[in-house]
Amino acid sequence: MAEDDRSTTTDQGATIEDFLAEERTFPPPKSIVSGALVTDRSLYDEADADFEAFWADRARELTWFEPFESVLEWDLPFARWFADGRLNVSYNCLDRHVEAGLGDRVAYHFEGEPGDSRTITYAELLEEVSRCANALRSLGVERGDRVAIYMPMVPELPVAMLACARIGAAHSVVFGGFSADALRDRIEDAEAKVLITADGGWRRGQPVALKANADAALSNGARSIEHVVVVRRLGDAAPDTSMAEGRDLWWHEIVPSQPVHCPPEAMGAEDLLYLLYTSGTTAKPKGIMHTTGGYLTQVAFTHRYVFDLHPETDVYWCAADIGWVTGHSYIVYGPLANAATSVMYEGTPDHPGRDRWWSIIERYKVTILYCAPTAIRTFMKWGTEHLEAHDLSSLRVLGSVGEPINPEAWVWYWQHVGGERCPVVDTWWQTETGAIMISPLPGLTTLKPGSATFPLPGVAAEVVDDAGTRVERGGGYLTLSRPWPAMLRGIYGDPARYRETYWSRFPGRYFAGDGAKVDQDGYLWLLGRVDDVMNVSGHRVSTTEVESALVDHPTVAEAAVVGATDATTGQAVIAFVTLKAGVEVDEEHGEALRRHVASKIGPIARPRTIIFTEDLPKTRSGKIMRRLLRDVAEGRDLGDTTTLADQSVVEELRTRATSQPAEE
Ligand code: WT7
Repeated sequence: MAEDDRSTTTDQGATIEDFLAEERTFPPPKSIVSGALVTDRSLYDEADADFEAFWADRARELTWFEPFESVLEWDLPFARWFADGRLNVSYNCLDRHVEAGLGDRVAYHFEGEPGDSRTITYAELLEEVSRCANALRSLGVERGDRVAIYMPMVPELPVAMLACARIGAAHSVVFGGFSADALRDRIEDAEAKVLITADGGWRRGQPVALKANADAALSNGARSIEHVVVVRRLGDAAPDTSMAEGRDLWWHEIVPSQPVHCPPEAMGAEDLLYLLYTSGTTAKPKGIMHTTGGYLTQVAFTHRYVFDLHPETDVYWCAADIGWVTGHSYIVYGPLANAATSVMYEGTPDHPGRDRWWSIIERYKVTILYCAPTAIRTFMKWGTEHLEAHDLSSLRVLGSVGEPINPEAWVWYWQHVGGERCPVVDTWWQTETGAIMISPLPGLTTLKPGSATFPLPGVAAEVVDDAGTRVERGGGYLTLSRPWPAMLRGIYGDPARYRETYWSRFPGRYFAGDGAKVDQDGYLWLLGRVDDVMNVSGHRVSTTEVESALVDHPTVAEAAVVGATDATTGQAVIAFVTLKAGVEVDEEHGEALRRHVASKIGPIARPRTIIFTEDLPKTRSGKIMRRLLRDVAEGRDLGDTTTLADQSVVEELRTRATSQPAEE
């Protein structure tokens, strides 16, 4: 009997509840099926027959300045899609819609955290992007250059990205929550010429300065930066924003005065569109490379079909931050390529009240909501009264992304947010895949809460065992066995690391780092990461990076970091720390270390729990026993520990882990 067949269990407790949650199925609601873009399997059949022809047909839905002849050149692991074609991403996201008469359609309903709002049509967005593109050119940015962007969630952020795409410069967006050091490292790796930032942004009612961080990043490195363009977002609320003479320029002083036309560059389909840095198992973040034609093809296709987008009537809201790949693909490029109307929100869900999201949905009559399980679990904790005060009846499709969504949260989302009438599409993908790979289609797929269901048309996802043999039913490693148009083209400046990281574990297969299982109906269930990468609030945080940040503190001798299950954030960062001799262990010191990590990497990497220990458990060869630490952190039974150098460490770790309560 397979492990996922729970029907034999006699347990009357949690197992049964689990069983019920897992086995409940949700066929597509009639209200969605009538009028849905996809209600039969023809797209899957088409893609199964010839996946290259399938993607080529999707690519032809874009506007090409020069059509492609070549569809796929596959020199494993290096792919080139539509390589001899020429196009421009900003042209496809803006000009062609305006030329088609859609200039007055709203591209973004922007809402700032303090309550300010802006409505931006496609025609207005095209003008602003063209002006910004001309401003970048006036600063010497040329086709092939890199531009770093470090901004809050304001409309100037997508404008800056599209302006880069227009003139053929690659952008590297660095999430506004990252520290000055993280910004500096990313600028240096990309050798960016210009940095676009803001005086700051709003978060939970407080102004958060960004320019000061940018200055810190530039004060000890990042020498490639010639100019800094600064958006005035906080204005008088900003702590004195200093502007370096000759280097720094205010956005409002150089952008609005530019000519309103800027001819788009005809880019090769394989030209670099952007870099986005993501954590891996080593301390150095990887610059994931995404190119032009294939990327836009797959983000446009998936955005349209996964959310059953009807751009004339839908109001779409992806509540991620543009600083992550979700925002790149599903706030900026996918929705704009599809001429969608989106909501963009700057701040936190609890400002000024815990009903902020629901008031936004009610006000803009949002029809499609895309967010992360960590947000859903937070709302569950806050209680349903905040939703009940608002009319959410405009919603028709709900999406989830970033980590496995537990069935309990899925059902809550379906019931309380979706009013039991909206399909919940659980979408699996990664920074590296560029676009959604595994997901239901709202008008077709029967849903199981907690399952991302099936690979999308044109995608080959397979679960394999340790030996790389395909698993038809049961657990294993999730792999991708064919190239796909939006796939990463490599790690910036490091092709060997690209090959080693993604293509060496299973020959001929991309290994994504995730465990998964296939159930008796062929549904895929994601089981979390199998490598040393944590998933905190839907974001990847490398254990090694946090360890490096801790050891960087003058009092720390050694550190080992693991992820432990956390009811709200999915996983929490747990750090085991050995201090240098003579340093006093106290709560204040733990707080100092937490602050240190936040300042080195960003608040997302801040350890929830720090466990001070005299020694770390090691194998005879000196390797830290991470499995054991994970078990300690999870409060589970420790099992066999005989390879330990010092048995007493285990006992000590166990006591400390249970005696120290989790902190916020
Ligand atoms: C990792 C990728 C994809 C954009 C946001 C995160 C986890 C993502 C799901 C899902 C289970 C998921 C995986 C993946 N993940 N979506 N629907 N179900 N796990 O992008 O930072 O590159 O992280 O997020 O572990 O490998 P990312």
